[in-house]
Amino acid sequence: MGEVDPAFIQAQEHRPKPEILKAEGIPLIDLSITSSPDTNLNDPRALDGLVEEIGDACKNWGFFQVINHGVPLVKRQNIEKASREFFSQPLEEKSKVRRSEEKVLGYYDTEHTKNVRDWKEVLDLTVQDPTIVPASYKPDDKELTKWFNQWPEYPPKLREICEEYVKELEKLAYKLMELIALSLGLPKDRFLEFFEEQTSFIRLNHYPPCPNPDLALGVGRHKDAIALTILAQDDVGGLEVKRKTDGEWLWVKPTPNAYIINVGDIIQVWSNDTYESVEHRAMVNSERERFSIPYFLSPAHYTDVQPLEELLNEQNPAKYKPYNWGKFFVTRKRSNFKKLHVENIQI
Ligand code: SIN
Ligand code: FE2
Repeated sequence: MGEVDPAFIQAQEHRPKPEILKAEGIPLIDLSITSSPDTNLNDPRALDGLVEEIGDACKNWGFFQVINHGVPLVKRQNIEKASREFFSQPLEEKSKVRRSEEKVLGYYDTEHTKNVRDWKEVLDLTVQDPTIVPASYKPDDKELTKWFNQWPEYPPKLREICEEYVKELEKLAYKLMELIALSLGLPKDRFLEFFEEQTSFIRLNHYPPCPNPDLALGVGRHKDAIALTILAQDDVGGLEVKRKTDGEWLWVKPTPNAYIINVGDIIQVWSNDTYESVEHRAMVNSERERFSIPYFLSPAHYTDVQPLEELLNEQNPAKYKPYNWGKFFVTRKRSNFKKLHVENIQI
């Protein structure tokens, strides 16, 4: 067992392979056309090539990377630096914002994915504070107070930095949702109504060096329950994606300043399986710590997630029953963030 606590040890078939396969096949998509002054966005055909690339990537991989995405590098560097500063503190300090029954957002280092402990520590922060805000919200509502962020004292500017960063990520997320809508033959703004109010959140991940990286994982295999994930990974790398064609795990080579995008369960349901949420996991290593920052685009809590009417017909009937996102999300959190996957709600 080496030095690793047995709680972290993956079953044989889920351990990382000694030979890593480079995910050369994952599409790298250049978004510069969407912000170029030469692009006439009123011309419905101007984005055709890009829309096709996005559609193919969603269909064949469920994952792609984007470059020239419009997020200013300095904003990303600021949050990456703040994340390092937060995690560099002693456990006692980090524990002051620890997640609990009373506060579901915050710091934790005891996450389990599929019953095996992940080799990581995390700080979860929402975009809207609190994340689940029904119109009936009253400040003394104890249930909802659970969903307020816990901002650590250090680094002192974390809140500002995080808010600045999220503004940029939101723009990118909407741009991607427009391209995804077009790729499904829908009006460009079809998905945007779902995000006027939203439960999106950001996660700071820290994967410390692990003495037995061949036995443990930073995050065990899972799919993302949200709509779309936009991940910033550092230059260490460790993300692996399950290839749809043969189930092989492929390592995603870090591309400087790129974002890794993946389809979540909600897009899978909206598109009635045209696009599928794909399993992924994160490896750790014995030498270098790794940081990653996913942004999880998620709809308003009151959204009933279901296949879009206009994509259905006799040959393509709905594959999912509607489910209420807020209830689903809260249950998932309450059960200690145990993932409820789309299989569980599939008819
Ligand atoms: C995740 O999927 O939860 C994190 C992936 C990563 O850190 O690369
Ligand atoms: Fe994930």
